[in-house]
Amino acid sequence: EAAEKGGYDHYMFKEIQEQPVSLAQTIEGRVEDGLDLSPETLAGVDSVQFVACGTSYHAALYGAHQLRSWGVEATASLASEYSVYPPPMEDALVVGVTQSGETADTLDALSVAGDRGATRLAVTNVVGSTAARESDDTVFIRAGPEIGVAATKTFSSQVVTLYLLAREVASVVTDPPAAAALDGMDELPDAVETVLDGSRAARLADEYLGEDGHFFLGRGNGVPVAMEGALKFKEITYEHAEGFPAGELKHGPLALVTEKTPVFAVCTGRDAGKIESAIREVQTRGAPVVAIAPRTMTDIVEVADDALTVPAVHPDLTPILTNVQLQLLAYHAASSLGRSIDKPRNLAKSVTVE
Ligand code: G6P
Repeated sequence: EAAEKGGYDHYMFKEIQEQPVSLAQTIEGRVEDGLDLSPETLAGVDSVQFVACGTSYHAALYGAHQLRSWGVEATASLASEYSVYPPPMEDALVVGVTQSGETADTLDALSVAGDRGATRLAVTNVVGSTAARESDDTVFIRAGPEIGVAATKTFSSQVVTLYLLAREVASVVTDPPAAAALDGMDELPDAVETVLDGSRAARLADEYLGEDGHFFLGRGNGVPVAMEGALKFKEITYEHAEGFPAGELKHGPLALVTEKTPVFAVCTGRDAGKIESAIREVQTRGAPVVAIAPRTMTDIVEVADDALTVPAVHPDLTPILTNVQLQLLAYHAASSLGRSIDKPRNLAKSVTVE
């Protein structure tokens, strides 16, 4: 087993470190040639409805955000809720985002969509999975096998895949978006590589151990990163963590903010002013703030008490890099606490019951 972990203590850490390679596999050939969708998949489509659970839901939120930024109507629903009152879906493409392709709630949502005549696309990591077999079309994220229960490299590959999918959908539904981040896509694996050292994340993880709670906030395409950062943190450290849009701070979470609640502020390159005011607001209540931001965003980095910086890439792609920092933060915190990182208590890699 030690060999399978590539000399690391945990699969999760190995899978975090693998991301330059897994992302390169996800991207290979697709910037030029697209995702190889079948010609019927986008025919007549005017909107997209993502359904997903857990980490995959956060990737779906990113996908919906990206599509809306290009003027395409898009929603991301938790699969377990989607089936309660399914939305009108005539002319919608329903996209099930599921690493395993076996999550019961996601399969159920896809089946509800199928019953209503919607075209269903599975975005999955597993060839031959139920989602792949039962959907009208499939895109594989090509991340390679993931053993750790807490999803890491598959999230990054989902985000990249959904970016590419959003671009293809947008070019059918609205005007094709400008070259945008596509030009920088091939450099993404190298940019991830530079974040993987993780020594600063390890130091901060130890510095903020044993607090009352950890808050993660973001705005726009930083919201899925904040939510995923909190999910990863709570899954493997068993510490309380919450992730939410920065604008919601004053509608509740602020009541909990003290000097014992470190705040991790995700800035992906846009709306820095709003993140900066959120940082100041929590600092006034005594909370220490760690900014997770491109290193070129000096205003944010300087106003925060500490920072986990990433290379400056196109703001559409910054979520991947900031998320890697939060993966490392959660991993090192859980490691210092001696948690069962690859198999957190009560959790399963794939939830096959509703
Ligand atoms: C479980 C796993 C999560 C995963 C979620 C959805 O809760 O522990 O890591 O995000 O299922 O899984 P899926 O295979 O559908 O992406």
